[in-house]
Amino acid sequence: MPATSLDQIVALAKRRGFIFPSSEIYGGLQGVYDYGPLGVELKNNIIADWWRTNVYERDDMEGLDAAILMNRLVWKYSGHEETFNDPLVDCRTCKMRWRADHIHGVCPNCGSRDLTEPRPFNMMFRTQIGPVADSGSFAYLRPETAQGIFVNFANVLTTTARKLPFGIAQVGKAFRNEINPRNFLFRVREFEQMEIEYFVMPGTDEEWHQRWLADRLAWWEQIGIPRSRITVYDVPTTELAHYSKRTFDLMYEYPNIGVQEIEGIANRTDYDLGSHSKDQEQLNLTARVNHNEDSIARLTYYDQASGRHIVPYVIEPSAGVGRCMLAVMCEGYAEERTKALPVEKLAAASEALQAFLKSVGRSEKLSSEARDAILARGEALSQELAERLPEVEQLLAMPGADQIELGKKLRGQVQPLIDEHYRTVLRLKPRLAPIKVAVFPLKRNHEQIVATAKAVRRQLQAGGQMRTVYDDTGAIGKLYRRQDEIGTPFCITVDFDTIGQGKDPALAGTVTVRDRDTMAQERVPIAELEVYLREKVMA
Ligand code: GAP
Repeated sequence: MPATSLDQIVALAKRRGFIFPSSEIYGGLQGVYDYGPLGVELKNNIIADWWRTNVYERDDMEGLDAAILMNRLVWKYSGHEETFNDPLVDCRTCKMRWRADHIHGVCPNCGSRDLTEPRPFNMMFRTQIGPVADSGSFAYLRPETAQGIFVNFANVLTTTARKLPFGIAQVGKAFRNEINPRNFLFRVREFEQMEIEYFVMPGTDEEWHQRWLADRLAWWEQIGIPRSRITVYDVPTTELAHYSKRTFDLMYEYPNIGVQEIEGIANRTDYDLGSHSKDQEQLNLTARVNHNEDSIARLTYYDQASGRHIVPYVIEPSAGVGRCMLAVMCEGYAEERTKALPVEKLAAASEALQAFLKSVGRSEKLSSEARDAILARGEALSQELAERLPEVEQLLAMPGADQIELGKKLRGQVQPLIDEHYRTVLRLKPRLAPIKVAVFPLKRNHEQIVATAKAVRRQLQAGGQMRTVYDDTGAIGKLYRRQDEIGTPFCITVDFDTIGQGKDPALAGTVTVRDRDTMAQERVPIAELEVYLREKVMA
């Protein structure tokens, strides 16, 4: 079962070093996060998989890495200066500011309905260029990577001699001054986009739009989000962005946040190339664009068949890396029992839970909302305690639960049981896993075992494809659990048999390989390890 609460992912991300709040030691910066040692590996693997599928495994794609800072005229003609706005309202009671379409007329902070009329708030960040701060010396941090592709269309076309249809892919940072950043990585002010602008003959755009929809759904499935978990939202005309003729939003059901966009696939028509072109009146544009007096280029394509210069239409699949990472973590997350619980210990835990709930019911320290919420969750848990024992931790983290003395007793009863009988596992596709293989010595102070384990680590890491780590900081069971939790698909243990000092001399030169998902263990000769693992870690 995927994560049932975003809190599970937030806690794991922090505990194991996937994500940290930006500038945390100074109180953080709202809507901005840093990717820690495991987060950067997962993020890089997602990007590499996207690039491999969309650039290397196709014949019709080029790559690009345009600068974040661009001439501000780009944002004038793209339409962003005029239309990249969110509706802002102020609460007159508590003075908080909100995005009008997120709050249904009620201030989430104080409950007041006394709000100002919505007014447009432009989401682009400004920065100063050069030493003199005057009205003309600013630039924007790009709010989408797409424009870097459009303004380089002619450069790419002339240097690669591509024929339509073809696409340009780019991955890079984008910045939006979101009014209320929230939900962890889901809505942030600085994020990365993976974008494709795919240029086609006008008239073939609708067919290509459908083809990209199918290709992109296949990619999401490939990285571990089943087709059944994604809904395709055909965005109604009234909600379309200013450049779009039609957009399909791919929606994933995140815990707590609900069904939300992870990728948009838009038909941008000839709007962008047309907007950035000179001589627009000669181009037979179908999109309504602002008259361009500044561009020095015609962004057209010479169609040999018709002998005409045309402005291609554009299909744009655009996905956020952070939202993708959040989805794969939610989807792969599971808390599961690894062995049966002793009956008497389960009975004792159940008793402690009932005593705790009784105490909650009687408590006068709790608000009625807090009491009802704890009781509802606790009673649901008690129905299937053996399956859901680890959720007791979340129960005890609910507002008000720390005021109940019997909570400590309940924790004391269940924690050892959770540690021994359950595991948290992140069932990431191996190709996305931050670490592919972990190598453990059975005894951390045995010279030959340690040396062999370190040599195995070095050997597997040498090719550069398998991120392999060495760990000797606990007993083997604990080390397995640590790797399960971060999604490592394979753990290798070097033991006395490996070095020819075990019971079975036939096992000399072999190690135990343990599979994250099945927990099955297999003996594999060290000499064959690389071949044994190579394909499996890229599955
Ligand atoms: N070039 C088209 C474009 O930028 P968008 O729907 O505004 O379209 C594309 O953004 C994707 O970028 C979204 O589907 C989402 O995955 C990601 N994204 C947009 N705003 C975001 C934010 N504030 N925080 C995190 N990801 C965001």
